[in-house]
Amino acid sequence: ISDKLLKYKGTVLTVNDNQDITPEYIDSIQDFETRDDDVFVVTFPKSGTVWTQRIMTLIYEEDFPEKAKQITYEQMPWIEYRDKGKDYSTRPSPRLFCSHLLEPLMPRALQRKGKVIYVMRNPKDVMVSYFHFSNKLDNLDSSESYDEMLKKFITGCMVGGCWFDHVKGWVTSKDKYNILILTYEEMIKDLRSVIVKICKFVGKNLSDAAIDKVVERTTFKQMKVDPVANYESLSKEITDQPKGAFLRKGTVGDWKNSLTVAQSECVDRVLEDRMKDVPLNLVWD
Ligand code: PPS
Repeated sequence: ISDKLLKYKGTVLTVNDNQDITPEYIDSIQDFETRDDDVFVVTFPKSGTVWTQRIMTLIYEEDFPEKAKQITYEQMPWIEYRDKGKDYSTRPSPRLFCSHLLEPLMPRALQRKGKVIYVMRNPKDVMVSYFHFSNKLDNLDSSESYDEMLKKFITGCMVGGCWFDHVKGWVTSKDKYNILILTYEEMIKDLRSVIVKICKFVGKNLSDAAIDKVVERTTFKQMKVDPVANYESLSKEITDQPKGAFLRKGTVGDWKNSLTVAQSECVDRVLEDRMKDVPLNLVWD
């Protein structure tokens, strides 16, 4: 679909020199042995991955005090973007991973051992967020217009693959996993409650004061200036305009400022058609 991207079994990944992004590696993930205390944060891109990743590493900060200054994705890597020479099977417990993979590509053992936090976001905001992101980073497929972006979004020709398949696949498989499903919109509405929910789900007993601290450190304003969390050093490697690539605006409903009525209605039609038998009420705001 682009020489910058690899499409494989419905998923789409960026190809980076320092990583083993190959069909063989992607296939091998299904045989990855999980542990009971593993937690995987799974998202379609631009749905709140880095935010949830940061929340998780702070909730687990005491488990890895020596890692606290490492950039968040090193504390909690994407399983599909494995740096050359790294072996995730030997990471000390509790292991935290994130992933943009479709449900059928995930470790099968995760259905028996480990937990999943699935975060989803209004697809129109996902699309607008990806439009800006892909136009900023040189290793992504840029789009000249929202019409071009919309086509990619609907056909799944973007990182992560097809939003509709991703959400549908995970939501319809939810009973196979020990899973907590969250939305970006509820995180915006009441971050503290979501953090409390996550702590309960992963079995972390944090004091009220410790929870307050996680809330403070994961607001948009705070993460934007936190070099551990804002990934500006990563974007500097791939672009000369790193500012705001991963943390751009951080709001709900930005699509209203960007999409035309016709573009928005087009997403509505596809949503209605493709998501009608999804066993969850997909209401965004
Ligand atoms: S990626 O590239 O797939 O990992 O992107 P992802 O992290 O999933 O999504 C990026 C969007 O999340 C917003 N973001 C936040 N919003 C509110 N609060 C906090 N703390 C926060 N951190 C990240 C980020 O700004 C992107 O959304 P947009 O709409 O582009 O601003």
